Amino acid sequence: MTLMPEPISNPPLPSPEGRTPASPNSNPPNPAPDVVVFKNVTQSFGPAHAPKVAIQDISFVVEDAPNVGELVTIVGPSGCGKSTLLRIIAGLKPHFPPSQGEVRVFAKPIHEPGPDRGLVDQKYSLLPHLTVVENIAFGRKLRGMSRADRLDRAQTWVKKVGLEGSEDKFPSELSGGMQQRVSIAATLILEPRILLMDEPFGALDPGIRLRMQELLIQLWAEQQATVFLVTHSVEEAVYLGDRVFLMAAKPGRLLEILKVPRPAEPPEESRRKPWFISFSQALLRRLEEESPAPSGAKV
Ligand SMILES: Nc1ncnc2c1ncn2[C@@H]1O[C@H](COP(=O)(O)OP(=O)(O)OP(=O)(O)O)[C@@H](O)[C@H]1O
Ligand SMILES: [Mg+2]
Repeated sequence: MTLMPEPISNPPLPSPEGRTPASPNSNPPNPAPDVVVFKNVTQSFGPAHAPKVAIQDISFVVEDAPNVGELVTIVGPSGCGKSTLLRIIAGLKPHFPPSQGEVRVFAKPIHEPGPDRGLVDQKYSLLPHLTVVENIAFGRKLRGMSRADRLDRAQTWVKKVGLEGSEDKFPSELSGGMQQRVSIAATLILEPRILLMDEPFGALDPGIRLRMQELLIQLWAEQQATVFLVTHSVEEAVYLGDRVFLMAAKPGRLLEILKVPRPAEPPEESRRKPWFISFSQALLRRLEEESPAPSGAKV
């Protein structure tokens, strides 16, 4: 089955204010530098005589068009290799280096994690002995910012993620959703050029989730970052993504890359538009075809 999102063949949707149109991926007048390139990347775990393939033969290019960062969302059933893909870009062991294939970031091979890439991990790990504001400031400390400056900057992020009043609490005193927001702020404060987010909004209640989606889009526009965001919500993938990477399991692979029009309205309104509903439903059907077992995906 081919998923044909209606709006792509229609006249382009108006661009919302403050949000730059998605970069064209075919025949740009001046080839843009590539941000992330995967060429036939395979990663296997386990012994050589009985390898367990996590992802197989994945290739894609994400370009850096001038003044435009791309927001890529990744959907697929559990175990299809979404986290593996992100962690390879991040340069994190044991997923990196891949067993086969080539990974280039800003046109260079990578060897390890770097400040150009920031990962909001699926298992958000906070430092238990540090408070909320200290956890958020921690990466800036490692980069040599003075205590006053980094705590001041971290305080701004406390507000952005809606944790005012909790800045002096320790992680053990926070709910899962609050911990997740600390983890998001701790990565975003570092302003990585490539932002890798592994189910970053999974533990958030619907209201805060919408607020965080808007915050992400605002930051994306301000910082022109390239974002890879893994989600189990098809709706979130369609709302946030310039392109959706659809993955399948056994073996983990990239099935299709779908270009999505940039919604012109806030999330609650977008969700009610006929094109949004038909696009999301077609994507969900496609996911279900590829993973007949419950995938956890929802519209
Ligand atoms: N460190 C590891 N050692 C061995 N196998 C691993 C390791 N990390 C991942 N795998 C395997 O690789 C495959 C892909 O895992 P991955 O965590 O990337 O999936 P995922 O798509 O992120 O799943 P989920 O949606 O449940 O988070 C799975 O079969 C998993 O068991
Ligand atoms: Mg995962």
